[in-house]
Amino acid sequence: MTFGWQSPSNIALVKYWGKRNPQLPSNPSISFTLDACHTKTQTTFTDGQGVRVLLDGQPAPNFVPKVQQFIERISPRHPWLQDYHLAISTHNSFPHSSGIASSASGLSALALCVVDMAMHLGQPLNAKDARQEASILARLGSGSASRSIYGGLVVWGGTPSVPGSDDHFALPYPHPVHPLFATFRDVVMLVDVGQKAVSSTAGHALMEGHPFAAQRFAQAHTHLARLQTILAEGDVGAFLDLVEGEALTLHGLMMSSSPSYLLMRPQTLAILEAIRVYRKETGLPIGFTLDAGANVHVLFPEEAEQKAMVFVKDVLAPFAKDGRFIADRIGAGPLPL
Ligand code: DP6
Repeated sequence: MTFGWQSPSNIALVKYWGKRNPQLPSNPSISFTLDACHTKTQTTFTDGQGVRVLLDGQPAPNFVPKVQQFIERISPRHPWLQDYHLAISTHNSFPHSSGIASSASGLSALALCVVDMAMHLGQPLNAKDARQEASILARLGSGSASRSIYGGLVVWGGTPSVPGSDDHFALPYPHPVHPLFATFRDVVMLVDVGQKAVSSTAGHALMEGHPFAAQRFAQAHTHLARLQTILAEGDVGAFLDLVEGEALTLHGLMMSSSPSYLLMRPQTLAILEAIRVYRKETGLPIGFTLDAGANVHVLFPEEAEQKAMVFVKDVLAPFAKDGRFIADRIGAGPLPL
């Protein structure tokens, strides 16, 4: 049996940074699901054992350990997997050299394939529905992958202001959201396209014993609660303030941890400064977020697109590596292939 899914990447607005076993977050997070940045994965299940991975049609043995670890982690929920060989054929829409992590899109696509096969076999799902089960499985592969199972704004991690939120799976943001946020753009400025300087597992571990850990985890809950009014009212200014604060807090936590990591490059800072100057001068609603790397995600609503794209091309692109960027937007979530 073969099942296929296209599943998107996502960008966190309130960041997941810190976790405990088994892959449970130390604080709640919320993300925009992306559209153009996605992975297409076909998985063929045959009798047997083991895993084979093809990336763009070529054998990719370096992906096998990560997939094997994923299968081991999800096997207690899906013991039938022990009797199957998985032939996985995967393709990322974004180039490997872009420095964009494929774990959220790749592991969510694979989780969706596993749930399809479980349903085909008539295996019970210990979740509300197939998507929730896929989110639980994706989380066990990579925390942020749990959020890629749904489109739009997605919350992962239990927090009082979001009914139904849970550390074990993500869910679509349940509160009213102003239409302005349904059209948000995310232009990823590719500053550093090399290998990640800190793996996410090592990164999350930096929060164990971090001097600011308790305050940070509490702050994430406060930010989720504050977003409720901001998102309902369409207050883009407050939204960008909060989201930029989250990105800089993430980097502040990395800089102040032991060992310390400086993942921004001089070009990253130049882009952040240029965005703030431009926003101040023009009043255009444009801001940024960062993941645990040097690339900058430039955020703005559709209504600002024309002017913002001129600014991106003329002012920001010269700071990016070879002038490269990926123009993305909020997406509708995974699609079966
Ligand atoms: C900074 O989901 O990659 O992007 O659970 O160890 O796979 P693992 O970590 P991962 O961490 C993502 C961290 C982040 C913030 C976020 O996406 O919320």
